[in-house]
Amino acid sequence: MKALVLSGGKGTRLRPITHTGAKQLVPIANKPILFYVLENIIRLGIDDIGIVIAPETGEAVRQAVENANKWGANIDYILQPEPAGLAHAVKISRSFLKDSPFLMYLGDNLIGADLRQFYQRFLKEMPDALILLKKVPDPSRFGVAEIDELGQVLRLIEKPKQPPSDLALVGIYMFSSKIHEAIEHIRPSFRGELEITDAIQRLLDWNCPVLSYILKEWWLDTGKKDDLLEANTIVLDKWIERDVQGKTKNSVISGRVVLPSSSHVINSQIRGPVVIGEDVLIKNSFIGPFTSIGHRSKIINASLEHCVLLDGVEVINIERLEDALIGKHSRIVKNSTPPKALKLMIGDDSIVEIP
Ligand code: G1P
Repeated sequence: MKALVLSGGKGTRLRPITHTGAKQLVPIANKPILFYVLENIIRLGIDDIGIVIAPETGEAVRQAVENANKWGANIDYILQPEPAGLAHAVKISRSFLKDSPFLMYLGDNLIGADLRQFYQRFLKEMPDALILLKKVPDPSRFGVAEIDELGQVLRLIEKPKQPPSDLALVGIYMFSSKIHEAIEHIRPSFRGELEITDAIQRLLDWNCPVLSYILKEWWLDTGKKDDLLEANTIVLDKWIERDVQGKTKNSVISGRVVLPSSSHVINSQIRGPVVIGEDVLIKNSFIGPFTSIGHRSKIINASLEHCVLLDGVEVINIERLEDALIGKHSRIVKNSTPPKALKLMIGDDSIVEIP
């Protein structure tokens, strides 16, 4: 068994956060989304993994995975020269996949479950495709499946204007080698991509067995800012344990807080769940629940809650920061001396909301 992780794409929906980095490396509770994906695959005992990368972000993905150096699996990198679709990614990975069955996993999808039962079902019944589905309120944003009362898949459509059901295709699939033949028979879609949804529909047209499995736990497609804040909230809520090792002075640290030994908290209050990275300084501040603070950040005279700060962020003299997603090496500083002009250096596609 092999696994193919898709970590290409341009991440346009998460700009400007992804202008300089891959969306799969955006951290949730200070861990890149891609690492949750790899851990979930390795937990199944699959240790031959191909990661499809894009020219713009591939090197960063490779470095992050290699630097973590904890996988105990064989990891190959496959370059997809252009974002030409999920089925195209499978096509260019043929020499890695050979004729092996495989698990395909989109590298920006986070689910609140392990895949053991899903995987066991594939091994037991050996269909040509097994798809993971989840009921969603807005199916037209996704690939959608129509199934009968026995869970047999009848039809699949990519981004339908009038969805035939509320069952979205989660970006996790299992395939036999038959999928390669199906991919040979599809044409680019309305968005100019070779869609994996169309290739699975082709299997259905040929009467090949296609099974579905409905995910009961949460699923987050972390494509947008609010999804990302929500993913952070859920992961902090469900998976974080208290682990306070850093130095504290005149401070109160309550609840499930992760504070590594290289970080310092002075005259401050931290109320979990909160994850703090390495080499962080927090001084005269309040850090409220559901906040992640990236490595080497500085929070001074500030109060924040329900925020995701990437690495190297400085927040200084800010009365209240809420529901914010702040990119790497950003500084948010309020100068105490008048005039009260806003002085900004803001990248493309940024959003600044001022009360
Ligand atoms: C892709 C698939 C879609 C699936 C979604 C899950 O969409 O084409 O069928 O529901 O991933 O995240 P995309 O993210 O390319 O719009």
